[in-house]
Amino acid sequence: MEQPILLAKADRVAWIKINRPKKLNALNAAVLEALHSTFESLEQDDEVRVVVLTGNGEKAFVAGADISEFASFSKAEAYNLVAEGQKNVFDRIAQFPKPVIAAINGYALGGGLELAMACHLRIAAATAALGLPEVSLGLIPGYGGTQRLPQLVGRGRAMEMILTGEMISAAQALEYGLVNAVVPAEDILKTAAQWASKLLKNAPQAQAAAIQAIQAFSGDGYELEKQLFAALFETEGFKEGTQAFLNKRKPNF
Ligand code: COA
Repeated sequence: MEQPILLAKADRVAWIKINRPKKLNALNAAVLEALHSTFESLEQDDEVRVVVLTGNGEKAFVAGADISEFASFSKAEAYNLVAEGQKNVFDRIAQFPKPVIAAINGYALGGGLELAMACHLRIAAATAALGLPEVSLGLIPGYGGTQRLPQLVGRGRAMEMILTGEMISAAQALEYGLVNAVVPAEDILKTAAQWASKLLKNAPQAQAAAIQAIQAFSGDGYELEKQLFAALFETEGFKEGTQAFLNKRKPNF
């Protein structure tokens, strides 16, 4: 069976590749569980000081949560999905005590962009496209996107991106401050390695403290997001949006 993620370690850097290229690396339960256990073990691994997260294949970083897995979920199952995912993966990465770099090698959509936003630094391939298209499925982002996007790009741009659901280019993402750098697609892993080398020059305990301090914002927006996300599973818009995607047609809202 295909491994949900590929892990390699070299020179104090751990390289994680999400490995479902035929499904554009969509986050299914197996990928989420593998990310959970891998980050848990990397936290204890003294040989590792920086983590790079990327997608396998040329087309996608991650094209979102796996729509086919949650299309028939109830409100309670939907709440559980995002609550577990946030706790085990998204918040774990955001609070991870070693720098985590997202190397966005292609589409970063929905849960994929939320995953990149949970990382501490983001490098995008010039060919990447980024967006939170959940409203086209009758949903809202459920893995912290409504909270992290406004922090990175401001409320005005976050409103535009989330309410239109439209993708932006890597160049636009750089202008918005959504990514730290844009490089030619063929250079993305090389650039991530260069950034990792820069990070390795500094004191790890100070970096862990910096991450903890920077991420110490509070507010109940994350909880409200989960509740609103789950409540949308009982709406006509959600049924129409997900059925349209699965049947490869345009939704009619
Ligand atoms: N969940 C489940 N499957 C997905 C997926 C997702 N989020 N994103 C892509 N896939 C699957 C497609 O169903 C397709 O599977 P198939 O070959 O078995 O039919 C395969 O990945 C390739 O995707 P496809 O849509 O054929 O590629 P494309 O180049 O025509 O389009 C996208 C690329 C990214 C524009 C399109 O896949 C897309 O819109 N994906 C969903 C994005 C989204 O809404 N994400 C938010 C989820 S909350």
